[in-house]
Amino acid sequence: MTSPHSEVPPRQTIIRCSAAAPLASPQALRRRMLAWASVAAAFGVRDTRAQAEAPPQPQTRSEPPPPPLDLDPPFVRTPNGVVDAMLDLAGIGPGDRLIDLGSGDGRIVLAAARRFGVPGLGVDIDPTLVERARAAARAQGLAHLARFEVQDLYETDLSQASVITLYLLPDVNLKLRPRLQALRPGVRIVSHDWDMGDWPPQRTIVVPAPDKPVGRERTSRLMLWVTG
Ligand SMILES: C[S@@+](CC[C@H](N)C(=O)[O-])C[C@H]1O[C@@H](n2cnc3c(N)ncnc32)[C@H](O)[C@@H]1O
Repeated sequence: MTSPHSEVPPRQTIIRCSAAAPLASPQALRRRMLAWASVAAAFGVRDTRAQAEAPPQPQTRSEPPPPPLDLDPPFVRTPNGVVDAMLDLAGIGPGDRLIDLGSGDGRIVLAAARRFGVPGLGVDIDPTLVERARAAARAQGLAHLARFEVQDLYETDLSQASVITLYLLPDVNLKLRPRLQALRPGVRIVSHDWDMGDWPPQRTIVVPAPDKPVGRERTSRLMLWVTG
């Protein structure tokens, strides 16, 4: 039988995502604009506005580098077929408890509740998205399983999760990584598109994503880590 996804050998699983080049000027506006350009680049979106409004400035050696950029990932939906593949890659099933960090419209938590009866928590910094996810849970009769909270994902208590899903940004994954690695053994973590630096995933698959809203390639790369 043909598999809908292709397995990527472990040696090919690390994607290096280059950060924005150090800037000569520390001006806040310019930093912010280039930060968004870097987010757009990470998600494969061309941000011509940022390029037009922030022309390159000459670099000087005397100025210190700016502080590291601290960015929130924007809301970009995981296509439904990719959501299913993420849950399948995690091997989710009865007895699991899911947390989706940065849950957007709630689709990953809702799919886990609908397909597997698994209870889940989605946290998002954006109250409008949390309200949208709660409304979807009510409309689908899943509110008893799918819970959504307005919360900064760096503050979320992960201790009750057996499965954690992420569709964030490379730097955010790296910031979360020490907390993920400190979880009890056997917790499965699935990340959409972004890796964990030099923490190699146990499995990597590439799945078709014809309706993916970002990027030039209509595929998604899914990676699985199991703690412990
Ligand atoms: C790329 S979207 C992923 C949405 C959803 N998980 C999915 O896969 O369809 C990232 C989400 O993270 C949320 N987010 C960004 N920074 C956050 C933070 N510090 N704490 C919680 N959520 C955050 C955004 O509002 C956005 O909804």
